[in-house]
Amino acid sequence: MQEDIARILLTEAEIKQRVSELGARISQDYAGKDLVAVCILKGALHFMADLTRAIEIPLAIDFMAISSYGAGTKTSGEVRIIQDLDAAIAERHILIVEDIVDTGLTLKYLVDNLGSRRPASLKIVTLLDKPARRAVTISPDYNGFEIPDEFVVGYGLDYDEKYRNLPFIGILKPEIYQK
Ligand code: PRP
Repeated sequence: MQEDIARILLTEAEIKQRVSELGARISQDYAGKDLVAVCILKGALHFMADLTRAIEIPLAIDFMAISSYGAGTKTSGEVRIIQDLDAAIAERHILIVEDIVDTGLTLKYLVDNLGSRRPASLKIVTLLDKPARRAVTISPDYNGFEIPDEFVVGYGLDYDEKYRNLPFIGILKPEIYQK
């Protein structure tokens, strides 16, 4: 698997350090609040697991799985909920946990959708931000790393469902996805 990686962009130690900083900030900002961390599957799975353990205040966790309507229509921003939240979020403080914001279309949809359920507040934490690809105006409230426009995998991020279990974020060799 590692032989498909051209270069490590973020090491396991760098990710751990930054996740711990994000956890500390979130713990401060949400002290005394009814916090629900919402993991957007599947890419945010690893970030969610580490981030929630770096948060030192009580919280609830919930999960959502969404899918774009197909590769060709992704830029339309039309996404479909495959698995919705278990619990209602009205009057609760919601933190969307995402692995990456790229075009921003997924987060735009999520903010509109979850925002309509009348949460007390709605914020976004992402591990990675790729601003060069943004198609809509949206930015995370908390972000781990701003990254260049490279095809990254690992720590939850996949190519064709592979590489999610790499412990670091790596740049995939172009010959892998250009095959
Ligand atoms: C990825 C990622 C974000 C989204 C970001 O999900 O996890 O949800 O794309 O892209 P955008 O800003 O251009 O909308 P993907 O659809 O690959 O699903 P996955 O998380 O299951 O891998």
